[in-house]
Amino acid sequence: MTLAGKEIILGVTGSIAAYKAVYLLRELVRLGAGVNVVLTEHAQKFVGPLTFRTLSGRPVLTDLFDPQTDAAVEHVELANRCHALIVAPATANLLAKAAHGIADDFLTTLLLATRAPVLIAPAMDAGMWDHPAVVANVATLRARGVTVLEPDAGELASRLAGKGRLPEIDAILETLQRLLSPLRDLAGQRLLITAGPTREPIDPVRYLSNRSSGKMGYALALAGLRRGAEVVLVSGPTSQSPPAGAVFVPVETAEEMREAVLQHLAWATIVIKAAAVADYRAREANAAKIKSKQDGLTLELAATPDILKEVAARKGDQFVVGFAAETHEVKRHAREKLEAKRIDLIVANDVSQKGIGFEADDNQVTLLDRWGGAIELPRMPKLDVANAVLDRILALGAAKPAKVPR
Ligand code: CTP
Repeated sequence: MTLAGKEIILGVTGSIAAYKAVYLLRELVRLGAGVNVVLTEHAQKFVGPLTFRTLSGRPVLTDLFDPQTDAAVEHVELANRCHALIVAPATANLLAKAAHGIADDFLTTLLLATRAPVLIAPAMDAGMWDHPAVVANVATLRARGVTVLEPDAGELASRLAGKGRLPEIDAILETLQRLLSPLRDLAGQRLLITAGPTREPIDPVRYLSNRSSGKMGYALALAGLRRGAEVVLVSGPTSQSPPAGAVFVPVETAEEMREAVLQHLAWATIVIKAAAVADYRAREANAAKIKSKQDGLTLELAATPDILKEVAARKGDQFVVGFAAETHEVKRHAREKLEAKRIDLIVANDVSQKGIGFEADDNQVTLLDRWGGAIELPRMPKLDVANAVLDRILALGAAKPAKVPR
């Protein structure tokens, strides 16, 4: 392994494991990387800047507002120049600040400013890692594409045993290596992805919709971009932010989604319909607000267009992927959908299970393809599911080259 020519920022926060960052720095330098170390105020209470300065051969960054340096300007330049930003050890406090975009010192400001891959190696006392606040912050960061390693289990500084030790230096270096040489196996592919729910108006105030959060579709867009694809993301209303680099097409109704999809269909090489399209709309949307307290009010519904079916009927060489949200007999129903809609691959998930599927950060899916294959994947974060779906598309395309246009 070599890191020759790589510029790394190493952020160190106030954990007793800060001394291990010295060993990590020594390895990074030994492997050829140029390393700028950033210490938080609390990190300096554990290990002084001189140790890091001596080993890195560079000034150590501590104070964003130091009048002796141009630190505030430098941070932008540093953020642009680096190939990766590592935070090791990262405290629960750092995870919280990073998850919420707080930038109140040098390190947290760099975390917002950089577009390089971010690798976080947490270390904290037993019990903290499992606290719901930390769990939620880690999930937010992972969904955003930040790599957060799992801490190791063992004896901690407090003499308690549990999960909270800084991951081994080898594990940090191995992950760094993967982040620095990302797969570009989707270069040249053009992904048309739909995500989120649709909203079908009943009147100017109310609508019909469903519980889709859009997380799965946005994860697919992020994974696709990272692997070198161009991405058009057609999305119903969600609270997710579109990944940088995607062409974002916001829509509201199934009809608007249909139009946007058909408009980009000829451009695409792969179509992935992760959206949970509302199946029904009000036959007549009322122009005026319907008055409340009308007992027995009847709403007449009409079916929305089946976008996926239309895509499959109109498509050329595109590889078409659908999703099947099921509550029972998941695989049977999903295979029926695959066949009825005449698509290439269907991602089946059981939305009746807590913690996976709708609104959740994890998913557990089975990939069924029209050549008879069925791959059951373990439960994992949606970004990992997204990568597994993209792997499968490429594998099926590779077996049947005509299916995935190059
Ligand atoms: N889909 C679509 N247009 C619709 C409904 C669904 O394009 N009007 C797509 C979804 O994006 C998804 C797939 O079809 O990729 C399956 O969606 P799902 O809701 O599970 O299936 P439905 O076809 O709606 O069948 P049902 O709700 O009866 O299970």
